[in-house]
Amino acid sequence: MRKALRAAVAVLATAALVATAAPPASAGGKSLRDAAPRYLKIGTAVAGGGHHVDQPYPDPFPNDRKYRQVLAREFSSASPENQMKWEFIHPERHRYNFGPADAIVAFARRHGQVVRGHTLLWHSQNPAWLEEGTFTKAELRRILKEHIFTVVGRYRGKIQQWDVANEIFNENGEYRQENIFIRELGPGIVADAFRWAHQADPRAQLFLNDYGVEWPGVKVDAYHALASELLAARVPLHGFASQAHLSMRYGAPDQLAAVLQRFDDLGLHTAITELDVRMDLPVTDEKLATQAVYYRTALDACLAVDGCNSFTIWGFTDKYSWVPVFFPAEGAATVMWDDFSRKPAYHTLRDTLAAAPRRHH
Ligand code: G3I
Repeated sequence: MRKALRAAVAVLATAALVATAAPPASAGGKSLRDAAPRYLKIGTAVAGGGHHVDQPYPDPFPNDRKYRQVLAREFSSASPENQMKWEFIHPERHRYNFGPADAIVAFARRHGQVVRGHTLLWHSQNPAWLEEGTFTKAELRRILKEHIFTVVGRYRGKIQQWDVANEIFNENGEYRQENIFIRELGPGIVADAFRWAHQADPRAQLFLNDYGVEWPGVKVDAYHALASELLAARVPLHGFASQAHLSMRYGAPDQLAAVLQRFDDLGLHTAITELDVRMDLPVTDEKLATQAVYYRTALDACLAVDGCNSFTIWGFTDKYSWVPVFFPAEGAATVMWDDFSRKPAYHTLRDTLAAAPRRHH
């Protein structure tokens, strides 16, 4: 009952905020990155590869000038959406394809943005040569080690955070057997991946990253146990991240702050790394107001936790969102329309950032 009341108040409050003709003076004409406190990086996925390959438009980042302008203006952090994943950056056993990732890293430097590297140890988007090859355990281990040293080493000093291990647990909090390295080499390979990444770039903050960890449960417990174990063994683990792919079919992430706080209490950084909020189509004003509440709830969670230093949305325009490709009846998940005009969620994020306490980390 109390929860329902709180939710209703939140919706009304946001509706009032959204209905206000002019943004508060504090936010003014600022961008998201300018409105944010300095310690908090505001990021987006940088669109390219993956689902974009099958869409009726050219690869977004290299080809859409307007897209790059908004990316530079609004964000202080960039996450290659697909361009650093194994299948993209390491398409053949003895060939790397660094061009697209290099371009993002160079763009980020030009525009005063940090980069979140994504990702090194994952069950998905691995090249066929890796998934279908026949390797001994020793060879597989060497392949992973070389990949990490090569990719992390190439961008040494230029990456703020690496998603070292991505989605390594299933919904029951068990190690995913689809992950070739975990299946073949055992879960101990996770610690090795962190050690190798740290050797290759001692300044990068190294993260565990997953979805479905926005509410307490077995998956969060599994990550908490793993994080505690790794820290006790002095493995260079620096952060835990919630992807936060949200759907309005479920509730707003009202326990996310509590989840992040558990990892903060271990001395880790935390981050929101892939936030989007999909809704059943068609879009209505009421749904847009509710969507803004979801975005704000996720941002509030990060702002409430001391070591939460990075808040990233998984794309900023519906034009390039992965959501309609995966969820045919849902969409409108980002903060801008196809033409980059802003939704209520954009304004709510910006106003919330502008009003956030400035503090040092
Ligand atoms: O590999 C197949 C290929 O064999 C086939 O011919 C082709 C035909 O459609 O599809 C290829 O798969 C595509 C895949 O990227 C590989 O590049 C999928 O269709 C495509 O939907 C997929 O999209 C990416 C997705 O990760 C893959 O899981 C999205 O662009 C990307 O936004 C998304 O990002 C992930 C994060 O990395 C991790 N967290 C979840 C998030 C959303 O799924």
